[in-house]
Amino acid sequence: MPTVAGRRSSRAADSTAQIGSAAATPVKYKFRSDSNDLIGSPMRKSPRLCTHASPNSSLKDNVIEKCPKPSINLLSRFPQEEKPSDNFVKRPTWDPSDVEQLRTVKEAIHVSTAPKTVVCREHEQNMIFEFCKNSIKQEKAGSLYVCGCPGTGKSLSMEKVKDILVNWANEEGVQLPDMLSFNCTSLTNTSEIFSKILGQYNPPKKQNRSSTSSLELLRNLYSQKQPPGTRMLLVVADELDYLITRDRAVLHDLFMLTTLPFSKCILLGVANAIDLADRFIPKLESLNCKPMVITFRAYSKDQIVAILQERLSALPCTVFQPQAVELCARRVAAASGDMRKALSVCRSAIEMLEAERKDLMSDSTLSPLDMNGDQQNPAPLDITTNNMVRIDHVAAALSRTYKSSVVDTIQSLPQHQQIILCSAVKLFRGGKKDTTIGELNKSYTDVCKSASIPPVVISELLSMCQVLDDQGILKLGQARDDKLKRVTLKIDGADIVFALQGVRFFRNCLE
Ligand SMILES: Nc1ncnc2c1ncn2[C@@H]1O[C@H](COP(=O)(O)OP(=O)(O)O)[C@@H](O)[C@H]1O
Ligand SMILES: [Mg+2]
Repeated sequence: MPTVAGRRSSRAADSTAQIGSAAATPVKYKFRSDSNDLIGSPMRKSPRLCTHASPNSSLKDNVIEKCPKPSINLLSRFPQEEKPSDNFVKRPTWDPSDVEQLRTVKEAIHVSTAPKTVVCREHEQNMIFEFCKNSIKQEKAGSLYVCGCPGTGKSLSMEKVKDILVNWANEEGVQLPDMLSFNCTSLTNTSEIFSKILGQYNPPKKQNRSSTSSLELLRNLYSQKQPPGTRMLLVVADELDYLITRDRAVLHDLFMLTTLPFSKCILLGVANAIDLADRFIPKLESLNCKPMVITFRAYSKDQIVAILQERLSALPCTVFQPQAVELCARRVAAASGDMRKALSVCRSAIEMLEAERKDLMSDSTLSPLDMNGDQQNPAPLDITTNNMVRIDHVAAALSRTYKSSVVDTIQSLPQHQQIILCSAVKLFRGGKKDTTIGELNKSYTDVCKSASIPPVVISELLSMCQVLDDQGILKLGQARDDKLKRVTLKIDGADIVFALQGVRFFRNCLE
């Protein structure tokens, strides 16, 4: 089996949230559509563009209304004449040269700042909440598998669901389960997960040191009737990918704990690899422990706009021109739909504005009147435009962030998605511009066979193409018959060849 690019962990993605951390690779690999993206269309007045708004208001009732408003101190440095409103354009503008205001704005869009409300994930959160609620009410063990690309709001949503559960249990007078949350990347070894769970029942010192026996003890525990009043245990295991890469048996053993006759474990596993479900669910099904699966799709442009607007609405002033937000959202949605990237671009754009202002101020030959015009024809200072993050700031921030993003994205894809792209490039070599799922499947199956890799079935290939479509890598058309759905590449085939050339199997395949 060829070695492919490493898995995408949100830890790795976190580092991309740092401004200026984009690799200094020459701007060589770009989306073909880049040049068309620079002009943003005007933003609609209502920022509530969420496509997954749930008709059930239980989430809002339980959590959103209870979120604290930004503190007065935090906002005291901003102009206060007008009340904060949803209408961005009419709100007062801020002063980027005020250090405190600048800090507050950056904080509002910082990746580690928990947003006041989590828009666009109401539907997913509601499904997770309902699953937990039913398990708790029926005192029934079970498992849920949450997956989606990095930056699609999985970890954030899990935190929100925990808050929702606490509120719900308080309101309904229901006994809350014990809760155990951890990130699997923090485990020193994969089987430490069992001692962590066992630690909820036995103090660690009483546990046998051997990790196998932790699993055995847990199995024994969940095979016997529990004393009355024993609470359910809600386990939230984030970045589950870590367990799968290192040892698949651990994953199977973990999910099987929820099927033992007296199990009290409600397991919520969260993973970044989207094809993991396809690879492991059949096995879990055969072991009679198939979890319920919830997929977090990549954020669309409209969702990214809505999320950014929601976060920026915590500020009393307008910081971004609406077109600038649109441009950021469009490009990030086309690349990966990763919210971390969108926030990183916004922060970088603010820094561009900050630097521009500093340059203008330090230029002692210019009076304030000159800032909008030249020396001979000074234009009146347009404070609103000068203080706002504009399209050109975002365009510059985007090119800084996405210097080699296409290549990075392809290299980070799961193996079968890379094989699909490799097969598509082979098909399009003769100058063909598009193909069908049926033809692509044939080419993909041939490539898999040449490397003795078992191919996935056509329905799985189709859903992987949907994921690649979500990421802006290919375009999947509509047709009644799945096999006749048309497929076109949205990125340059040369980018795919370049990204995959480090793997001998792909190199041979594309020669
Ligand atoms: N719906 C949302 N609303 C507001 N901020 C969001 C939303 N989704 C993601 N974010 C921001 O993006 C960051 C990354 O999201 P996260 O939940 O960690 O992604 P994942 O776990 O899927 O990799 C969050 O910390 C948050 O700042
Ligand atoms: Mg995460």
